[in-house]
Amino acid sequence: MRLTMVGTGYVGLVTGTCLANKGNDVTCLDIDAGKIAQLQAGRVPIYEPGLEEMIEHNVRAGRLHFTTDKDAAYRPAEAVFICVGTPSDDRGRADLTAVIAVARDIAAAMQAAPGATGGDADNDPEKIVIVKSTVPVGTNARVKAELAAHTSKPFHMASNPEFLKEGAAINDFNKPDRVVIGVETDHAADRLRDLYTPFVRQGNPIYTMDIPSAEMVKYASNCMLATKISFINEIASLCESFGADIDQVRLGMCADARIGNKFLYPGLGYGGSCFPKDVLACISMGQESDTPARVLEAVDEVNNAQRQRFIAKIDKHFGGALAGKRVAVWGLAFKPGTDDMRQAPSVTIIRHLLDAGATVAAYDPVAEHTTREVFGDAIAYVDDPIEATDAADALVICTDWDEFKNPDFRAVKKGMKSPVIFDGRNLHRLDAMRRAGFTYYSVGRAVVTP
Ligand SMILES: NC(=O)c1ccc[n+]([C@@H]2O[C@H](COP(=O)([O-])OP(=O)(O)OC[C@H]3O[C@@H](n4cnc5c(N)ncnc54)[C@H](O)[C@@H]3O)[C@@H](O)[C@H]2O)c1
Repeated sequence: MRLTMVGTGYVGLVTGTCLANKGNDVTCLDIDAGKIAQLQAGRVPIYEPGLEEMIEHNVRAGRLHFTTDKDAAYRPAEAVFICVGTPSDDRGRADLTAVIAVARDIAAAMQAAPGATGGDADNDPEKIVIVKSTVPVGTNARVKAELAAHTSKPFHMASNPEFLKEGAAINDFNKPDRVVIGVETDHAADRLRDLYTPFVRQGNPIYTMDIPSAEMVKYASNCMLATKISFINEIASLCESFGADIDQVRLGMCADARIGNKFLYPGLGYGGSCFPKDVLACISMGQESDTPARVLEAVDEVNNAQRQRFIAKIDKHFGGALAGKRVAVWGLAFKPGTDDMRQAPSVTIIRHLLDAGATVAAYDPVAEHTTREVFGDAIAYVDDPIEATDAADALVICTDWDEFKNPDFRAVKKGMKSPVIFDGRNLHRLDAMRRAGFTYYSVGRAVVTP
């Protein structure tokens, strides 16, 4: 199929590349000329394992193209996937400005095509317009109205929420747990089913449903995952207050098959470009419809409190006197496997350290360039985790990259001014840290002193 991805970010780029890899002809369109120039030059603007090689392969095969030319991207496309950002606005609602702008662009390109109905199979085929961005229920209807207001040509609407995880995006797209397709016409259902069938050869389901339900599936899924994180963090806080150990509680609790052991790790709270904004958007949907999303309000509150609770441990340890202290930070990205810094807990923590007068030496295997966009030269970036701890008064672990799970703690301790670790990811065993001679703070567990 001839496809166009609008928005060449994490979702558009991964989706476009994986669809090209199955033999489709894919054009990725973006208004960010710098991003498109990089891609045209063979450089991938984001870090995503396996993506660069797959892009290179499909570009070479002539199936994957990058452009800023809207007309050239929209006119020949049989299906257009809207993959632009839907960030929170100042009231927490999903900002649909980009989605609606794209709808107008698509309509303009359709309208400019010769003929009364479109349908020239080679140059201007009848299109399926697919909203892949995460959007509140009712957005597809708004996009449809916007298209209909600006073109008389026929088209089909579809909702196809994306469930990929940054850091594992290629695998998630190639082997989805499920594909969700919201449709109004058989044509859209059939074509999207054709498109996704190669990805579900192991028998995972393609669910076809009405569009509002498809839109809601995405929010419900992300909100459920965010709820699990806030839930386990709340239990971790109770463990700290009452002398229980969250690691043991977790094991005992997760052995119950009804609960399961996935996505129930205590830490610094959820971050990234999706959970925080999707929880807020769902809360807004509740407010707008007089159906308050009370659980989600609490989920958001617990998440914000989780970072502050961790910061309070650092403050308390130093008696509030962080000025002049040197703090090493391991891990900047909001989670391992990505360079995405959007809503990363490390940002809240580093900002606090800097405001309190501390200096920060940070190490992340891939997120230095994106962290520079946030902090510029206000912190020092080092190429090696041990180097970061040199002469440090404390080490703060923000991201659970594998390489932090078994570091040379003898070298760490030797270089540090005082051997204190604040581990926001519970990467280490308490007895091991005691033996290694550290004062060790973690989440939902006792404080260890040597
Ligand atoms: N990042 C994820 O892990 C993930 C997973 C599932 C769903 N989503 C959802 O997918 C959507 C996109 O997320 P993302 O992380 O890929 O966003 P992103 O910010 O990485 O990329 C969005 C891209 O859209 C481009 N854009 C904006 N307006 C445009 C326009 N008018 N025409 C063409 N391009 C335009 C931007 O320049 C940018 O490159 C969001 O709704 C998000 O919630 C994201």
